[in-house]
Amino acid sequence: MKNYVPYILMAISMIGCAPKEKALTIEMHRPQFHYTPKKNWINDPNGLVFYDGEYHLFYQYNPFGTTWGHMSWGHAVSKDLVSWQELPIALEEYSDPITGDSTMIFSGTALVDKNNTSGLCAGKDCMIAIYTSNIHKDNQGLKQHQSLAYSNDKGRSWKRYDKNPILDIDRKDFRDPKVFWYEPQQKWVMALVVPDLFKVQLYESKNLLSWSLLSEFGNVGDTLKIWECPDLYQLPIEGQTNKTKWVLSLSGSHPAGSDFVGMQYFVGDFDGTHFTSEQTEPLYVEHGKDFYAGIVFNNLPNRTIMIGWVNNWTYANQVPTSTWRGAFSIPRELSLTETESGLRLAQKPIDEIRKLRGEEIKDLKSLTSQSFELDIEIPEGGSVSVFKSENEETIVGYQNGKLFLDRTKSGNVSFNKDFASIESVDVLPKTDRISVRIFIDQSIIEVFSTDGRYAITDQVFPTQQKTSVELNGNAMLINGWLIIGLD
Ligand code: FRU
Repeated sequence: MKNYVPYILMAISMIGCAPKEKALTIEMHRPQFHYTPKKNWINDPNGLVFYDGEYHLFYQYNPFGTTWGHMSWGHAVSKDLVSWQELPIALEEYSDPITGDSTMIFSGTALVDKNNTSGLCAGKDCMIAIYTSNIHKDNQGLKQHQSLAYSNDKGRSWKRYDKNPILDIDRKDFRDPKVFWYEPQQKWVMALVVPDLFKVQLYESKNLLSWSLLSEFGNVGDTLKIWECPDLYQLPIEGQTNKTKWVLSLSGSHPAGSDFVGMQYFVGDFDGTHFTSEQTEPLYVEHGKDFYAGIVFNNLPNRTIMIGWVNNWTYANQVPTSTWRGAFSIPRELSLTETESGLRLAQKPIDEIRKLRGEEIKDLKSLTSQSFELDIEIPEGGSVSVFKSENEETIVGYQNGKLFLDRTKSGNVSFNKDFASIESVDVLPKTDRISVRIFIDQSIIEVFSTDGRYAITDQVFPTQQKTSVELNGNAMLINGWLIIGLD
């Protein structure tokens, strides 16, 4: 209770300048416009899919506590990708019917079986989930294979397929299937990983039930950490009408080295059988510490949108939140952009996020909420301090040609020895000033720069309830808005 007192006081002081219900529901560090579960632990987003006017967000969820365990699929839906409604758990941990072993529902995919290729739909189409069935004893993994469940009521209730597993190569680690429809050959393709061999395997199927191996891709890029959560999708190249390339993204290594996890990607081609990469050196999705297990939506017309888990396995189980633990990023629209070094991923917060803009920010010194958006221009040597109070600040700046985020004095950093960090990335081509778009939400900062080519997402845990923003070294506020959370 002690921890809440300043926030309750803040909430009371805010009555009158913010909607009453909103002010009274602020819980310490609880993001207001990033998705968090009402209670308990979450990790990877799973089964992102658009179906019948609804966006579905399934996710790794522990129904029984605020640390990892009893993995099940939580579920939320949205009509606009910004306001989410939490629904009952979709798929729960269960006992294996043959061995009696406990089976957790690990990460996977959800899709719309449009033509009832599986024969499991009651009508013309239905939702299918393909997930890793993780058999374990006391949380120690014994075996992983892939299983299927189907829903004939828009994801509200699920039945496990009675002939599971649908794919088994007799391995302890073999997981995170992403399945998508490959239009040119009218078939389903599954990408999944053999984590400890740094290998992505691709399979094909006509009916989602029986699968055959197409090819393998691996042992390139960054292999410092095991590979997890692969995804394979086609992206437009900015400014080149009708030109696309394929991207294979996956989770594992972080550009800052093996103490942390992060995401890397490969740009190349997919011909229905093989993925071939144009590069061998690692490229990273993010330079912040808190963006992992990102995957893109299935069945989404015209756009490719990724959501990631805002956390890092290094300290995920210890972050100082109370009733819940974990959050999801702002959905990001992906594209490729031509650069002097080749094609690179560009990530932009979806346009819909503008719907949440409230009052315009004129005076950075007197913010009435800790959830806001800023467009700032930062010259070389300049910076912006956010969550600034007498002894704390988080700095976003541009120095020696690097965009950086310094959270070493951001507040509570003591819960894990590796948390207090400075993230940075070289901005290319060299320039004397950069524009940054920063989203700040109680304990999450997402920074986008250079038309989405660089992204830094970090958690911070300021101990003060009232903080301000300060510009240094000729940094300039271009625009700013308070953001109204919709939950
Ligand atoms: C990635 C991951 C996945 C796995 C899930 C288990 O964060 O380790 O590989 O399916 O989490 O919760």
